[in-house]
Amino acid sequence: MLTLRVRSITYEAEGIRSFELVDPDGKDLPAFEAGAHIDVSVPGGLTRQYSLCDSPGIRTHYRIAVLEDLAGRGGSKAMHAGLRAGDMLNVSVPRNLFPLKKGAQHNVLLAGGIGITPLMCMVDQLQQDRQSFELHYCTQKPERTAFRSRLQSLVAGDKAFLHHDGGDPKNGFDIAAKLEKYEEGMHLYFCGPPGFMKAVRNAAAHWPEHAVHYEYFGVDPALSAKLESSAAEGVQIRLAKSDKLINVEPGQTILAAIRQAGVECESSCESGMCGTCKVRYFSGKPEHNDYVLTEEEKSEYVLVCCAGTGTETLLLDL
Ligand code: FES
Repeated sequence: MLTLRVRSITYEAEGIRSFELVDPDGKDLPAFEAGAHIDVSVPGGLTRQYSLCDSPGIRTHYRIAVLEDLAGRGGSKAMHAGLRAGDMLNVSVPRNLFPLKKGAQHNVLLAGGIGITPLMCMVDQLQQDRQSFELHYCTQKPERTAFRSRLQSLVAGDKAFLHHDGGDPKNGFDIAAKLEKYEEGMHLYFCGPPGFMKAVRNAAAHWPEHAVHYEYFGVDPALSAKLESSAAEGVQIRLAKSDKLINVEPGQTILAAIRQAGVECESSCESGMCGTCKVRYFSGKPEHNDYVLTEEEKSEYVLVCCAGTGTETLLLDL
């Protein structure tokens, strides 16, 4: 855990502020890779994940950008209303669940709204590595488009493209047309709100799995509802290392049941988006509700913060 000082807060666009975080003694911060995020203990006691959006070579500060979500669970509101320059903030060291693949022939980066944050960092890395890329950044209107000045030269050089739909996705960027043609060596990276993610995933359904990379942010309301109903049956899980048999009560997540039994299990987002709670399983048929595991991984691992137990006893490698 790091305790950092908020050195500055910058208005980036309507509803979006960025926070520059530094070591209070001016020391270099732990290095990070493009796509990395930090867990932030936001004022009021919540923990939220925010992508680092400045260049990965920079060690003097971390920058995160936060969209104030008035309908959200309170994390972004607390960041906007509860923080002033000079305040201290506890954050984790950077972790990367959304890394760039080396040696791609061409990289297609698609951002929806505040989903631009990890892609800003990737763009810097790709430029440094002289890699081929194009960035498409979809927002409602220019006023809600963060980092416009930073992207200016890329826009002028036809490397970045800003798309505004005026609030109606039908008037927006034609994602399906962009992704229609897949060629060997291409890689796709995307991040944005649930509707945007669904549109991109559908449009890239014919791309090979190894070429498609994404990161969710915010909780999909459909997932929240699923989490509640999937844990509703109340079944048992067994922990292989201790041979403990644990009841998962109706409405309880597997993660909560494990912890209630006194067994430690790491977690972060608790929404199926970060992969921190990944656990191997040996038998049973979990209902996967996450956004992280590939189809191949699902036969071996389960994200216990959001998975349903299924009807058979689940045997976990814990
Ligand atoms: S804690 Fe993030 S996916 Fe489970």
